[in-house]
Amino acid sequence: MRQPLIAGNWKMNGTKASAEALLSGVIAGATAIAKAEIAVCPPFPFLSLGEQMLAGSTVRLGAQTVSTEPSGAYTGEVSAAMLAEFGCRYVICGHSERREYYGETDEIVAKKLSACLAQGLTPILCVGESLQQREQGQTETVIAGQIDGIVSRIGIDAFSRIEIAYEPIWAIGTGMTATPEQAQAVHVFIRQRIAGDSQAIAGKIRILYGGSMKAANARDLLSQPDIDGGLIGGASLVADDFLAICQAG
Ligand code: G3H
Repeated sequence: MRQPLIAGNWKMNGTKASAEALLSGVIAGATAIAKAEIAVCPPFPFLSLGEQMLAGSTVRLGAQTVSTEPSGAYTGEVSAAMLAEFGCRYVICGHSERREYYGETDEIVAKKLSACLAQGLTPILCVGESLQQREQGQTETVIAGQIDGIVSRIGIDAFSRIEIAYEPIWAIGTGMTATPEQAQAVHVFIRQRIAGDSQAIAGKIRILYGGSMKAANARDLLSQPDIDGGLIGGASLVADDFLAICQAG
């Protein structure tokens, strides 16, 4: 009942030429994929290219972050309205790299979600624990804190227009994927947490998994009942690898 979403997070990679080639490859391959919804999130400078090339394709466009503010003197920032104008559907918010390197707190992430929703964009809210937190048995506490930190600020109803991505930090770019069982357990926990506020939203919300997902492990992860897609980093930079994951979705 929940259509899988496979979103590629290109992070800060590529050139104009490689972005064009990657988009072409994904667009061509996507025509053979019926089940999963597919999205790509290139760096800001390639969004215009993405908008042009994806016109007429089923592949959706997304951005990797957004400003908390609507407009004004915020040098270097990009507003949600700008992303909407350039054809974005999705915006990744609160990725662990943003939280760690750019000091994004739950308060900032909540503002970004609100900024997206005000422009009709769909945020992909990232949550996840560090290796140390997992080893200390704090995974659920950390995830609950991240979810509650958003719900308390923007309300549960907003979650009817939000996707969640569970990304264990220790699995990102490391080749150390969570096992399907480990991931499923956290996805169930997230869904139950949402269900505590709204059963209806919990049943509908898509919870993606991210962290070293690749063609070889995608099918096992995506066959778990509460894993509704993937947020793909490294493997989204090669069209055939990304499409193989989309095929498994
Ligand atoms: O947003 C994507 C995640 O950070 C996963 O990255 O697939 O390279 O581990 P990865």
